Amino acid sequence: MGKSLFLGLDLGTSGLKALLLDNRGKTIATGDRTYPVSHPLTGWSEQDPADWVHACNEVLTELAGSHPDEMADVKGIGVSGQMHGATVLGKDRQVIRPCILWNDVRSHVQAARLDGIPEFREISGNIVFPGFTAPKLVWMAENEPDLFSAVDMVLLPKDYLNFWLTGICASDMSDSAGTSWLDVGARDWSDELLSKSGMRRDQMPDLHEGCNVIGALKPELATQWGIDGKVAVVGGGGDNAAAACGLGTLREGDGFVSLGTSGVLLAGKEQFSPMPSSAVHTFCHAVPGRWYQMGVILAATDSLNWLSRNLGRDPQNLSEELGETISGPGQMQFLPYLSGERTPHNDSEIRGAFLNIDISSGQAEMTQAVLEGVSFALRDSLEALKSTGTSLNRVLATGGGSQSPYWVELLATVLNIPIDLPEKGEFGAALGAARLAMIGVTGANPDDIMTQPRIANTISPRRDLVATYEVAYQSWRTIYPAVKVLT
Ligand code: XUL
Repeated sequence: MGKSLFLGLDLGTSGLKALLLDNRGKTIATGDRTYPVSHPLTGWSEQDPADWVHACNEVLTELAGSHPDEMADVKGIGVSGQMHGATVLGKDRQVIRPCILWNDVRSHVQAARLDGIPEFREISGNIVFPGFTAPKLVWMAENEPDLFSAVDMVLLPKDYLNFWLTGICASDMSDSAGTSWLDVGARDWSDELLSKSGMRRDQMPDLHEGCNVIGALKPELATQWGIDGKVAVVGGGGDNAAAACGLGTLREGDGFVSLGTSGVLLAGKEQFSPMPSSAVHTFCHAVPGRWYQMGVILAATDSLNWLSRNLGRDPQNLSEELGETISGPGQMQFLPYLSGERTPHNDSEIRGAFLNIDISSGQAEMTQAVLEGVSFALRDSLEALKSTGTSLNRVLATGGGSQSPYWVELLATVLNIPIDLPEKGEFGAALGAARLAMIGVTGANPDDIMTQPRIANTISPRRDLVATYEVAYQSWRTIYPAVKVLT
């Protein structure tokens, strides 16, 4: 093969990112575009799939302009994306209504109802969380019966982009695992779960592994972006699976913590060993024969951003005020459940709280309480993972919050494990998606391609403070049940 380059696209909630990778695994260029989320009613969160297509076209047209030689040699495309969204198409393959996103909670009643049917947890290996796809379709059946009866195909957001790129309706295992329709252990649609939510297998796309080729890029799009020859498009992956591919988190014992809008503590798994009662997510990985488990908290940097909006100060400025190093837990406590919580409570109704506010407390104490509350919530996820038999002895850190030395040292101490900070560079879902495309085209072994980034710095738990933070964590844990009875 001559020169081969690979494109990774990450269809996020706030925008699309593209990354161009060379055949040695080096990032050559990136580009991005944002698009809006609409909230027509409280708890609703929707996007127009046409905006995704538009963003993708603009970013790739721009890359074709800035890197024409490299774009000409693109041989494969991988797409990752926000999970769980329902993009519904009619027989004519036109979009029937705006996509209902992962953070839309309108179908929490339907989710609880499906979750009460034992087969959902048994077969899918997961709680039917309100953001998942199946309850969204049940909501449509009950609230938009005319639109529901026209649904001929349900695609996840990144699969809709793949449909636009190739004309083929396909999905990958990692993203499909978040629908509540997949038998996650068997890596196949479950006819039983589909029928229990009023759906059929023929309304589902064909299933592939994330690194397997689903089809070819439409020639007219290749021409438009100056790509010579045939381009393979692979199954791709859900955003967390793809991020794990970018960070080399494939094996048992590999893990990462993501301090993004939401917070994720993710562990690679070589077996399917779900435990839905822990509220841990157990999903297929984007490479064959592997799974991963993760605890998800809904407001990580979102909690700090909320505080920053209300104090009228930049989030970075708020956390810098605490200095670079921790000195023990504060008296004020914060429950970060601003949008409800997934792990470990599976509670879409609970909301946040500040406790133990002293007359002398100010903005710095509030910031410290927020960073501690989020760290304690991630410790809950670590405990939930442990309860399933998963142990993590160290983790990589990623996401905007990992730029704060204070927060990372706090988290290392609260989790009581070292945290590795990668050297500067691109390690996110777009890189993972490009790596999936590289494997699909070259047939390389995922273990050789999904390597871990070089580590710039390892932050160890503060041995002198581990016990003090442990006491604070145990005290913080008593807040949720107490607040719960008041709401
Ligand atoms: C995972 C989840 C989020 C979304 C949006 O279960 O809900 O990670 O994929 O990023």
